[in-house]
Amino acid sequence: MSIAKTAHSSQEALWEKANRYLAGGTLGTFFLPPAFTLVFKRGQGSHIETVDGQTYIDYVMGSGPLILGHAHPAVVEAVQRQASLGSTFYYLNEPVILLAEEMVKAIPCAETVKFVSTGTEATFHALRIARAYTGRPKILKFEGGYHGVHDYSLMSAVSGRVTTYPTPIPDSAGIPPGVVESVLIAPFNDLETTTAIIEAHQQELAAVILEPLQRVLKPQPQFLQGLREITRDKGILLIFDEVVTGFRLAYGGAQEYYGVVPDLATYGKALTGGYPMAAIAGKQEIMAVTDPRKKGKPDYAYLSGTLNGNPLAAAAGLATLEQLRQEGTYSRLHSVGNRLQRGIEEIARSLHLPLKALGEGPVFQVLFTEQERIERYQDVLAADADKGYRFGLELLRRGLYVTPGQKFYVSLAHSEADIAKTLEAAEEALKALR
Ligand SMILES: Cc1ncc(COP(=O)(O)O)c(C=O)c1O
Repeated sequence: MSIAKTAHSSQEALWEKANRYLAGGTLGTFFLPPAFTLVFKRGQGSHIETVDGQTYIDYVMGSGPLILGHAHPAVVEAVQRQASLGSTFYYLNEPVILLAEEMVKAIPCAETVKFVSTGTEATFHALRIARAYTGRPKILKFEGGYHGVHDYSLMSAVSGRVTTYPTPIPDSAGIPPGVVESVLIAPFNDLETTTAIIEAHQQELAAVILEPLQRVLKPQPQFLQGLREITRDKGILLIFDEVVTGFRLAYGGAQEYYGVVPDLATYGKALTGGYPMAAIAGKQEIMAVTDPRKKGKPDYAYLSGTLNGNPLAAAAGLATLEQLRQEGTYSRLHSVGNRLQRGIEEIARSLHLPLKALGEGPVFQVLFTEQERIERYQDVLAADADKGYRFGLELLRRGLYVTPGQKFYVSLAHSEADIAKTLEAAEEALKALR
């Protein structure tokens, strides 16, 4: 799989136009160095192809949505069928009602659902719902926890620095001081410190929000359960951000996988297999604050969006979930991911490189670290991030599409041949690093 760069290729011309016409030359925060002028034209199964015809085994998978792989025939068929019937109605439609029904069946905390378009909107609204329901102003999130790009989320999320709890480090310019004051930060997997912060602020805390698998940090035994108990005791809502874990760790997400049920949960990514839709799910009584008939009441939480409940995305979602319900889905996702993780660790060991693959089977990250236990954001910060990034670039040079230094997403389309090629590339990449 050669990825040698051709001079003046159409890809290079497009890349130059991207740099001319797109702010920052890219779409969000992810960009690659100029040696990698990647512009993609199609994806099929586990592979992605550039406009110049270079193919890669894809572990970005659209940053997580493509749990079935690119262009799964069932999803393509459902979207084509819906597209010919109309792309958006701004009101009730059959696919979205059926998708809500399926989510309520699948998700332990879900009694009712509200749809939005992005994971950012989902967590933003979940926090607003919690404030409206409890009448309290503040939220607590965890250091290193990511909930999208709204102001409440970009607090000690990606700062790369250790937080002095509970005062957040804003991750972006432009966040008003009032928002900073309404967020408290606690260390993930440290129930004692978190409990002390909750107790000190219980009168003003509306919600505790977390990724139950924080990036790739597994919750320590009793951490989620402990949060469940203290939030219930204090009348604070517990929100699981399942944008990554939902329909991925298990059909019922992290709440099923880890056996702890929150009050509200947010979904995105895998829910609709690559089409823009996200959701908030939760207890009926809490979600009822978004009922528009409450408009004018003090606990009414305004929630609206032009494309909310979009029938194209909902049709993709129904088709995706139907595939995920097939026998063997989750054992396969976990086993492929675990084989990759253990395989990469094994190769590193044989090369005397200190490396750990962290996460759960379907989503993981490789850290270069000597540390035995990686439980907190600080442990992740202590790893050699530069080496992690360079490892990613070496993989890109060898035909694996990854976000250097970030997570790998596994899909049902990744095959035995992909695993073998990936481990071969990882061995060469690690040798090159050494
Ligand atoms: C856990 C988590 N929550 C929320 C989001 C935000 O989702 P979106 O990028 O769709 O706004 C992300 C995105 O990566 C995420 O990983």
